[in-house]
Amino acid sequence: MISSIYFTGFKFVRGVILYGPPGTGKTTIIRELCEYFKYKPKVINGPQLLNSLIGKSEEAVRLLFEKAKKDQKNKGDSSPLHVIVFEEIDALFSKRTSSEGGSDTRNGIVNQLLTMMDGYDALNNILIFGTTNRLDMIDPALLRGGRFELQVKIDLPNVQERLEIFNYHLNEPRKNGFLASNISTDNFQQLASVTNNYSGADIAELVRLAISYAIDRSFEDTTTSLDKLNLEHANICIQWNDLITAFYQCEQARRKRENELKTNKNNANDDRTDHN
Ligand SMILES: Nc1ncnc2c1ncn2[C@@H]1O[C@H](COP(=O)(O)OP(=O)(O)O)[C@@H](O)[C@H]1O
Ligand SMILES: [Mg+2]
Repeated sequence: MISSIYFTGFKFVRGVILYGPPGTGKTTIIRELCEYFKYKPKVINGPQLLNSLIGKSEEAVRLLFEKAKKDQKNKGDSSPLHVIVFEEIDALFSKRTSSEGGSDTRNGIVNQLLTMMDGYDALNNILIFGTTNRLDMIDPALLRGGRFELQVKIDLPNVQERLEIFNYHLNEPRKNGFLASNISTDNFQQLASVTNNYSGADIAELVRLAISYAIDRSFEDTTTSLDKLNLEHANICIQWNDLITAFYQCEQARRKRENELKTNKNNANDDRTDHN
């Protein structure tokens, strides 16, 4: 089958980039895909790779592909697919600024990777995923055909999607009887409508907080210290109030982060003005 597809001149996509704000599920999507298709991906953290590789980058990237190379040579078209995931790929492939000039380490990694993807001896049995919050930072040369030619935007969820995410994260507690029975679909809808700009990870965090309040309360209710260790006997019940309190806590944290960002930005602007 694969051979006849090759015969048509059709080229498989070897590189896919998932991009979008943090916490929108990019890593999760790749993990779930791999699990579904039973691939064991090699996961590489971009910044870590860069830091640990001064001087030996090409070798390390070459090693990453060694098994795929061997399989392609020995098994040809029946080789299994080798999946490699580069997390925070912008750390490796960011556009070079003129002042930076591009480090040898980074250039080494880029060249070696491009050789594997669309060089003369390109591998047909690889699928490389990259994730990034900053697609605009990536060297456009890498986004051309034969390289990371497929770019998929994973955006912040809209209100309907947020409702689904709340349902997803509260499903387990509800199934296990840990969610107060008076919490209704309307309540979920309310949560979804006030959490504008929340990512899936933010919603997961909100739910985690609410659960932690319920657990704390159940510990207060138990009398002996041994009981405190026994979650099965603890009387955990997530109340509507826990979700509301968790929401306010998350809002406070978001506001604090926004203010810090603003302050940093202003300081950076002040520095620039001082230098002019
Ligand atoms: N669409 C979603 N549905 C449910 N949970 C989500 C979703 N997106 C993110 N999450 C939650 O956020 C966590 C972190 O997501 P992750 O895949 O690491 O985001 P990213 O890689 O985009 O930064 C996940 O483990 C999950 O709990
Ligand atoms: Mg991620």
